[in-house]
Amino acid sequence: MAPRVRACRGEADVAAVAGLIQSELSEPYTCFIFRHFMWTWPQLCWLAFEEEDGGGAPGEGRCVGCVVAKAEPRGGALRGYIAMVVVEAAGRGQGLGTELARRSIRAMAAEGCAGVALETEVTNVGALALYRNLGFVREKRLLRYYLNNGDAFRLKLKLRPGACETEHTEEAAGEEAVAPGKCCA
Ligand SMILES: CC(C)(COP(=O)(O)OP(=O)(O)OC[C@H]1O[C@@H](n2cnc3c(N)ncnc32)[C@H](O)[C@@H]1OP(=O)(O)O)[C@@H](O)C(=O)NCCC(=O)NCCS
Repeated sequence: MAPRVRACRGEADVAAVAGLIQSELSEPYTCFIFRHFMWTWPQLCWLAFEEEDGGGAPGEGRCVGCVVAKAEPRGGALRGYIAMVVVEAAGRGQGLGTELARRSIRAMAAEGCAGVALETEVTNVGALALYRNLGFVREKRLLRYYLNNGDAFRLKLKLRPGACETEHTEEAAGEEAVAPGKCCA
């Protein structure tokens, strides 16, 4: 049965996402970062639950995937940022990561975001394939971006024509490079 995907409900979902991230991600994430995102931009964060079988009490089952994201003003426009997309190892390769990222990006577009940015490790073949399929392009390589000294690619997706030009100037000045709260591995 395909997992059920829905938007975040804030604090009520923090424990489910924390469990998933702890079991599936290699970087040691503090829960404060994703909790802040889930509280502030619940409409941009999405979760997938494995449906429970049988006719028992209504429950959502296990959280098997999530996307954590935000949207903030940047360079005179609203810009979306995907902090992380995670799918439980057993459920990968079936389109769930793509579906979660799409839902978040659609919500960003509905809010008027001009574009979306994220970072992912240069060796993360699965994530790079996922984002390439969604239309993201590589903007720059960030050297030793992660705690393991791994490099990252910053990827961008334009949602409106001409959306990203002003942001390049800011980032060239180093405003965002290795910012606290960097997330995506
Ligand atoms: C990256 C991740 C979210 C992908 O989730 P998923 O549900 O497997 O993704 P999808 O099924 O939607 O696949 C998306 C694309 O990536 C490709 N892909 C996924 N995992 C892959 C892998 N290990 N190697 C090569 N390609 C891979 C798929 O083939 C698909 O491309 P295609 O349609 O051209 O075949 C998942 O592997 C994951 O949770 N990884 C650990 C956390 C992580 O690294 N997150 C990303 C950075 S925050």
